[in-house]
Amino acid sequence: MTVTDTEVVLEAEGLTKHFPVRRGVRDLLSKDRKVVHAVDDIQLTLRRGRVTALVGESGSGKSTVARLLAQLYGRTSGDIRLHGDSVTVRGGRRFRAYCRRVQMIFQDPFASLNPTHTVRYHLTRALKIHGRAGTSAAELEENLRDLLLRVQLTPPERYLDKFPHELSGGQRQRVSIARALGADPEALLADEPVSMLDVSIRLGVLNLLRDLKERLNLAILYITHDIASARYFADETLVMYAGRMVEGGSSETVTQNPAHPYTRLLIESAPDPDRLDRVGDPREAPEDEAGGEPPSLIAPPSGCRFHPRCIHAMPKCSTELPPRFELSSNQWAACWLYEEAAR
Ligand SMILES: Nc1ncnc2c1ncn2[C@@H]1O[C@H](COP(=O)(O)OP(=O)(O)OP(=O)(O)O)[C@@H](O)[C@H]1O
Ligand SMILES: [Mg+2]
Repeated sequence: MTVTDTEVVLEAEGLTKHFPVRRGVRDLLSKDRKVVHAVDDIQLTLRRGRVTALVGESGSGKSTVARLLAQLYGRTSGDIRLHGDSVTVRGGRRFRAYCRRVQMIFQDPFASLNPTHTVRYHLTRALKIHGRAGTSAAELEENLRDLLLRVQLTPPERYLDKFPHELSGGQRQRVSIARALGADPEALLADEPVSMLDVSIRLGVLNLLRDLKERLNLAILYITHDIASARYFADETLVMYAGRMVEGGSSETVTQNPAHPYTRLLIESAPDPDRLDRVGDPREAPEDEAGGEPPSLIAPPSGCRFHPRCIHAMPKCSTELPPRFELSSNQWAACWLYEEAAR
């Protein structure tokens, strides 16, 4: 099955976010308004029953993309479409209607749950806000139980009256997921949902998300630093560098056969037991000869933003932005190396 054959839920086209930089009074007076180019010209499609991974190093703009898609930030330009209809909402009833369909899960479940309230309170509130609490106390109780069963917190009675600090990190993240499911959404935007959890329980939470994708036919955006987990968990993988997307395609292809020099660098720097025996092999050229610093996003490099770090950089790379070159039906890369191959 290819990555493009199920119903589109949420799409972004040309999505761009520049944050103003205000340093001091002199900057306020100067005409030259500096901005952080956090996200530039992002295309992205989330489909029913599919996980799309968004991978990149710290500061590459992943969370900004999720917040734009959740309509928590206004965008500088670009379009967001839910089932084909452009949506721009800022607060109010239309925002709540949008949230019912597109829910976000954050990295730190401890920060996103209120420490003074129980699991019952958090989940009841979510059900009520989204009009799903039922018409009687018994129905509400049944719906609360269902939510906890969905995230495999069983028996539900054991968890309903617990406070966040009485739960483990993994259990707290399951409660956050249950709360998001309280809206009965079509899309989940999960911003590094397991990166704060112990390694030993990460897999359990990822398996839960995968199970929800299948059973509830959810469209999931999975944001991560860890390209190895994208290979395991996501159907499609998109790679971001310094606010731009540089490569995308089926997770299998992008992780096994990366095309963009930045994706190769990411994979090289990820620990992978299959490759440990090749460390030190002179045939494996290092991709990051120039050293590993991401660029300033206030004055990002011209042309390809990766060119100052790229061992394959050609003169053109510093002046012209590479478009997406289709390498196969399930892989593209924005890199001039593939200009000829794509013809
Ligand atoms: N509210 C804001 N105001 C100004 N700049 C911001 C704001 N939010 C993010 N940025 C900047 O935008 C860029 C992208 O940040 P973002 O948080 O989206 O990256 P990220 O890929 O999620 O990083 P991480 O992996 O560390 O979570 C960074 O340079 C960041 O400093
Ligand atoms: Mg982030």
